[in-house]
Amino acid sequence: MAMSHHLLLLLALLSVLVLPTSSAASASTLTQSSSSTISGDQTLASPGNAFQLGLFSASNHSKWFLGIWFTVSPDTVVWVANRDRPLNTSSGVLRVSDRGALVLADGATTNATVVWSSSSSSSSSDSPGAGAVAELRDTGNLVLTDAAGAVVWQSFEHPTNTFLPEMRVGKSLKTGAEWSLSSWRAADDPSPGDFRYVMAAPPGGAPELHVWRGARKTYRTGPWNGVRFSGIPEMTTFENMFQFQFTDTADEVSYMFRNRDGSPMSRVLLNESGVMQRMVWDNASAAWSNFWSGPRDQCDAYGRCGAFGVCNVVDAFVCACIRGFAPASEAQWYMRNTSGGCARSTALQCGDGDGFYLLRGVKLPDTHNTSVDAGATLEECGRRCLADCACTAYSAADIRGGGGCIQWFGDLMDTRYVDGGQDLYVRLAKSELDAAKRTRKFAAGITLVVAGFTLLLLSLAFLVWRKARRSKKVTIADDAAELMSGECPTYPPGVIRTATNGFCADNVIGRGGFGIVYKGQLPDGQQVAVKKLSSENTVQGLNEFINEVVLIAKLQHRNLVRLLGCCAHSSSERMLVYEYMSNKSLDAFIFDERRRASLSWKTRLDIILGIARGVLYLHQDSRLNIIHRDLKAANVLLDADMVAKISDFGIARLFTTTADRQETITKTIIGTYGYMAPEYAMDGTVSFMQDVYSFGVLLLEIVSGRKNHRSFNLIAYAWGLWEGGRSQDVLDAAIRGGCTGAELAQAAACVQVALLCVQECPSQRPPMADVIPMLSQQKAPVPRPRRPVVCTPVTGHPAAAALAVQAVREMVTCGSTELTITTLEGR
Ligand SMILES: *[C@@H]1O[C@H](CO)[C@@H](O)[C@H](O)[C@H]1NC(C)=O
Ligand SMILES: *[C@@H]1O[C@H](CO)[C@@H](O)[C@H](O)[C@H]1NC(C)=O
Ligand SMILES: *[C@@H]1O[C@H](CO)[C@@H](O)[C@H](O)[C@H]1NC(C)=O
Ligand SMILES: *[C@@H]1O[C@H](CO)[C@@H](O)[C@H](O)[C@H]1NC(C)=O
Ligand SMILES: *[C@@H]1O[C@H](CO)[C@@H](O)[C@H](O)[C@H]1NC(C)=O
Ligand SMILES: *[C@@H]1O[C@H](CO)[C@@H](O)[C@H](O)[C@H]1NC(C)=O
Ligand SMILES: *[C@@H]1O[C@H](CO)[C@@H](O)[C@H](O)[C@H]1NC(C)=O
Repeated sequence: MAMSHHLLLLLALLSVLVLPTSSAASASTLTQSSSSTISGDQTLASPGNAFQLGLFSASNHSKWFLGIWFTVSPDTVVWVANRDRPLNTSSGVLRVSDRGALVLADGATTNATVVWSSSSSSSSSDSPGAGAVAELRDTGNLVLTDAAGAVVWQSFEHPTNTFLPEMRVGKSLKTGAEWSLSSWRAADDPSPGDFRYVMAAPPGGAPELHVWRGARKTYRTGPWNGVRFSGIPEMTTFENMFQFQFTDTADEVSYMFRNRDGSPMSRVLLNESGVMQRMVWDNASAAWSNFWSGPRDQCDAYGRCGAFGVCNVVDAFVCACIRGFAPASEAQWYMRNTSGGCARSTALQCGDGDGFYLLRGVKLPDTHNTSVDAGATLEECGRRCLADCACTAYSAADIRGGGGCIQWFGDLMDTRYVDGGQDLYVRLAKSELDAAKRTRKFAAGITLVVAGFTLLLLSLAFLVWRKARRSKKVTIADDAAELMSGECPTYPPGVIRTATNGFCADNVIGRGGFGIVYKGQLPDGQQVAVKKLSSENTVQGLNEFINEVVLIAKLQHRNLVRLLGCCAHSSSERMLVYEYMSNKSLDAFIFDERRRASLSWKTRLDIILGIARGVLYLHQDSRLNIIHRDLKAANVLLDADMVAKISDFGIARLFTTTADRQETITKTIIGTYGYMAPEYAMDGTVSFMQDVYSFGVLLLEIVSGRKNHRSFNLIAYAWGLWEGGRSQDVLDAAIRGGCTGAELAQAAACVQVALLCVQECPSQRPPMADVIPMLSQQKAPVPRPRRPVVCTPVTGHPAAAALAVQAVREMVTCGSTELTITTLEGR
C-alpha cells in the first residue's frame, strides 16, 4: 500500500517537470531589437554552452516559468525569474524593453501582461535606456548591462534556491542589498517555500549563515574562523576541489566559493526540506551526486540541547549540560525534552571570583549576541571577558594564528561537539572550577587503578589524592611532578626554552590534542619535538599529561614514538620531549593529492606492518596491555626512513568512572569519528578490539589514499568493491598503475583483512596477533568477512536507545554506573 503510494508520487513528480530538451537558440545575448526575444522553446545559451535560459513548465504543464538550467542537465534549474507569478501557457516572451529592462510578458503584443521585470527587483531606479544588452554568461549569471557596459542588474544578485560558484550569499552593508536563498515550495513548484538561507551579521559580532524556516532558525554553520565555518570542520578536506572565500568588511559580509581547475561542476542547493546540499556532477554517470549536506545529524538541529547545553551525536543521551550547569527542568530533561536547556549551578561572582572552563572540540555557540575584535590576543580576550560581568564565554576568532577575540553575552545556544572543533572558554564561578579539579584528580587516581598499575603507583595516587584533599594550596604541577618522578628523565626548563628558540612561532610544527608542538635542538645537537601544554588547560590537560607520561615512559618499541623526557617546572610550563620525526604524520601523506603518489605500495605495506607491530606490542608484548583508543592517520608519525611510529597516548586506557555526567560525556567522545568501533560509540564498551577496528579503518585509508568521513563511507566503498571481486580497485589510483601483479594481490589481501577488522561484532575481528601473519600472507586462508555495519546512527537503534535511557535512569537513581570493561583477555 505505502509503496504503491510512494511510486505514484514519484511518477507524478517525474511527469510534472517537463523541460525543453532541444533548442533552436545559439545566441548568448538579447538586445533591444524587436526580433531579439526568447519565447516558446527558444533558449539563450551561454558562450561555452554551460547554461541555458528559457521557459520551462511545472505542475503538469499548467504553470510556466523563465529559468536558467545546466545544459547537460536540463532538469536542474538554478534560477527562476517569475517565481511568484507563473505564466498559464507557454506563450511567454522575454525581451529587453525600450527603457532597458528585462521584461517577461504573457505574449508578444504591447498590451500583454508583464509578469516579471528586472527593474522591479533592481536596486538602482535609473533605467539604462537605449543600448542595454542582456547576456547569459558561462557562470550561469544573467547580466544586464547599459550602453557603457556597466552592470545594471544580474541574476546572481537575486538568487533563488541555488548557490553557484562565483555567486555571493550575504549582504552589502553599503546598499543594504541582501543575497539569500529561498527553497522551492515543492519539487514541481518554484514559488518561494518555507526555508531561507541567509547571512546573519550582528552589528559588531561574528557573522554566520543560518537556515530559517519561517521565523524559526533551524541550522547554523557557525562563525567563520579564518579557514572554514566553525561547525563544518570537514570543509578543509574539500579544499582541493573548492576555494572558499569569506568577506567581512565595513562594506560587505559575504561568502562564496569557486571550483578549482579540473574540479567537476558543482552547486549548492537549499532543498525543500531545508537541507543545504552540495552536489557535484559525475561525468561518468551523467548525474549529480550528493557531496555534502547540512544539517548532518540531530546535533545540527538548532538549539537541540537548549541554552548552555552541548550536543554529542555519539553519546546515547545526545544532550549534556556544560560543566557548571544543570538541566533547567530535570523532569523534562530526563524525559528527553532538552529544549529547555541548562541553568548555572553556582551564580557568577563577577570579577576575580570567576574563571573559565575550557570546553574543547566544539562548534562555537550562536553568535547573535557577540562582539569581535580581530586584533586582540586570546589572553587579552580572557582578561576582557573577565572584566565584563555580562560576558559568558570567549574564543579565538581566527584559528590560523589562534588570535582574535569573540566574546559571548547571555545564553550559549546551539553548542555541539564536532571532530576538529574549536576551544570555547566558558565562564564559571571559581568554586565550580575547583570542584572540577577535585573530580578530575580523583578520576586520575581511578584511572591508575583500572590500568592495573603496581601497588606502588596505587599508593602514590592515593597519596596525591589525600594530599589534594588536605591542602588546597597544592598545585597541579606538584602532583604531576610527584607522579612522574622516576618515570622519565627531566630537563631543566631553560634547556627546552633555548632548544626551541624561546618557543618561537617559527618552530611550531603542530597543534596536538592538548597543546602546541615545537621543533627544537638540544645542546648535544639532537633534534626533538617538544609538546607544550597550554597553561589555561589545567584540568583535562593534566589528566592526559600524566597518562601519557606514565604510559609512554614505560614503553619502548621501534614503532612507538619515544619520549625522551619531560619538564614540569611550574603549572604554566609542562612539556614533553619526544624524538623528532622529520616526515611528520601519515595523514599529511596519504590524504595529500601530490604527496600520496610518492608513497609506493612497498612503503605503504611497511607502514601498515609497522603500525600493526606497534599495536601488537601495546596489546600484549609490553608489560602493560594497553589499549591506544585513538589510532588514526594523524597519530602515526614517520621518521626520516619512513618508519611508522604510533604517537599520542593522551587518552590511552582512560576509562569512564564516576556518576558525573560531564565525565561520561567527555570520555565518551574521546576518540575520532571515522575510526570509532560501533560498540564503543554505542555504549562505551572498551576492549582491545576497539583498536583492531580503528586499525582496519586506517588500513583501508592507507591502501586507498581516501579518508573515511561523514560524506564518504570508506568501509561501504571497500566492501562494495571486495564483494564485487574488485578489491584491487580499492588501491589508490595514484600508485595502482605502477604495481606488479604480486603487489596488487597483496593490496587485495590487505583489503580483506581490513574488512575483517571492521566487523560489527568484536568477537569476529581478528586479534592483533593474527593480523600480522594475515597481512604478510603467512596465515591462510584468511576468513571471509561478513557485511560490515557501515552506518550506525545511535538513534537508529531503538534497543540501544532504550538501554541508554535505562543506564541514565540507573545513574540518576543509584548515583553511580559502571562500564563494561572487557580488557583482560588472554595475553
Ligand atoms: C496532466 O494533465 C492531463 C490533461 O491536461 C491529465 O489528463 C493528467 O491526468 C494530468 N496528470 C497529472 C499527474 O495530474
Ligand atoms: C493565470 O490564470 C489565473 C486564473 O486562471 C489568473 O488569475 C492569472 O492572472 C493568470 N496569469 C497570467 C499571467 O495571465
Ligand atoms: C491586445 O491588443 C491586440 C491588438 O493589438 C488585441 O487584438 C487584443 O485583444 C488586446 N488584448 C487585450 C487583453 O487587451
Ligand atoms: C534534501 O536533502 C536531504 C539530504 O541530502 C535529503 O535526504 C532529502 O530527501 C532532500 N529533500 C528533498 C525534498 O529533496
Ligand atoms: C565528460 O564526458 C564527456 C562525454 O562523456 C566528455 O566529452 C567530456 O570531456 C567529459 N568532461 C570531463 C571534464 O571529463
Ligand atoms: C519541553 O520543555 C519545555 C520547558 O523546558 C516546555 O515548555 C515544553 O512544553 C516541553 N515540551 C514538551 C513536548 O513536553
Ligand atoms: C545580549 O546579552 C546581554 C547580557 O545577557 C543582554 O542584556 C542583552 O539583552 C542581549 N542582547 C541581545 C540582542 O540578545
